[in-house]
Amino acid sequence: MTDTAVVATPAAAERPRAVVAEAHELQRVYSIRRGFLREPARLQAVGGVSFALEAGRTLAVVGESGCGKSTLARMVALIEAPTAGRFALDGIDVATMNTGQRQQLRRTVQLVFQNPYGSLNPRKKVGDILAAPLAIHMPFDKAERTRRVRDMLARVGLRPEYANRYPHMFSGGQRQRIAIARALMLSPKLVVADEPVSALDVSIQAQVLNLLADLQAELGLAYLFISHDLGVVRHIAHDVLVMYLGHAVEQGPKAQIFARPLHPYTQALLASTPGLTTGRIVLKGELPSPLAPPPGCVFNTRCAHATERCRIERPLMRLLDARQVACHHAEKFLEAPPASARPQP
Ligand SMILES: Nc1ncnc2c1ncn2[C@@H]1O[C@H](COP(=O)(O)OP(=O)(O)OP(=O)(O)O)[C@@H](O)[C@H]1O
Ligand SMILES: [Mg+2]
Repeated sequence: MTDTAVVATPAAAERPRAVVAEAHELQRVYSIRRGFLREPARLQAVGGVSFALEAGRTLAVVGESGCGKSTLARMVALIEAPTAGRFALDGIDVATMNTGQRQQLRRTVQLVFQNPYGSLNPRKKVGDILAAPLAIHMPFDKAERTRRVRDMLARVGLRPEYANRYPHMFSGGQRQRIAIARALMLSPKLVVADEPVSALDVSIQAQVLNLLADLQAELGLAYLFISHDLGVVRHIAHDVLVMYLGHAVEQGPKAQIFARPLHPYTQALLASTPGLTTGRIVLKGELPSPLAPPPGCVFNTRCAHATERCRIERPLMRLLDARQVACHHAEKFLEAPPASARPQP
C-alpha cells in the first residue's frame, strides 16, 4: 500500500439511488351519489400519503381491506389522477406533464394485478399478449418482437415455445409469470403490483416473490407492492407503509417496523399475522365507515391506548426511532423491548 490518498468508491449499498417516484400528500376523494335529492357524499379513499421510491427498492403498502391501497396504486400507475397533492414519476410532475411526457411515463410504470386469471385475454396466445405493448409503443418489426417475447419468457422462468399457447393452458403461478413478463416488455422503471400473490397457493407464492426479487436485482426495478399479508411483505419489502382508513399511520424501513412497531395499528397487524406473532393484541370494534371517519386519530375508536387527545387532535406523521409514525403516544412503545426479544406465546 502507498500513502497516496485513494478516492473511495462507495459500496453499491451506499451509493445514492435514483428516485423513481415521489408522492407528496397524495389524496383521492370520491363523490358518492346517494339518490336524486341528497348531496353526494365525500369519501376520502386516500388522505395525504407521501413517499419516495428509489430504483432497486420495494415499498410495501399494507392495511386492511378498504384502507385505500388499490386507490393509491391506481394513482401511482397513472390510471387515476389525485384530487390533491403532488406526484412525480421519473422527475416529471404528472399534474403538468405534456402529451409526449405522458406517453413516456406510461411506459415507465406498469401494473401487475392480483388475479392472473382475469388479467390475460383468454382468446390471445401468450406471444401475442406479450408482443402487444411492443407493437403499440416500439418501432420493432415482427421478428424483433418475437425475439423479445421469447427472451422475456425465459427471463421469467418459462419456456420460449410457450408463446404459442393460450393462458388457460397454464397454472396460476405460470399465469402470474406471464403477467409479470407482459409488464416488463416496455422496460419500465416502476412496477406497481397490487396483491400479486394473494390468489396463489402458498407454495407458489414464494416462487413468484423470488422471481420478483431476482428481476429487481437484475433490472434495478422499483416496486410499489400492495399486500394485506405481512408475512409476504416481510419477504419482499425494503420499506413499509401502513395505512388505515386512507391515512398512513406508520412508514419506514422494514427492519425497524417489524422489530419494534410504534403505532398500535401496526402492532395489531403484526400480532394477527401467523408466524410473526409478537403478542396477543386483538383489534376491538368495527372498522369505521370511510364516509364518516372518526375525528382526531383515525384509529382512536379501536385503539386500546386512546386518550381524550386522540379523540380530538389528529396526530401528524413524525420521525421517531428511524421511521415516521402518526401516534400521540408512540414514545410509550419505545420503552417496550423489541418484538424479537419478547417471549413468544
Ligand atoms: N371508484 C370508486 N368510487 C367510489 N369509492 C371508491 C372507488 N374506489 C374505491 N373506493 C372506496 O375507497 C376506499 C378504498 O378502496 P381501495 O379499493 O383503495 O381499498 P383497498 O385497500 O385496495 O382494499 P382491498 O384490500 O379490499 O383491495 C373504499 O372505501 C372503497 O369503497
Ligand atoms: Mg385493493
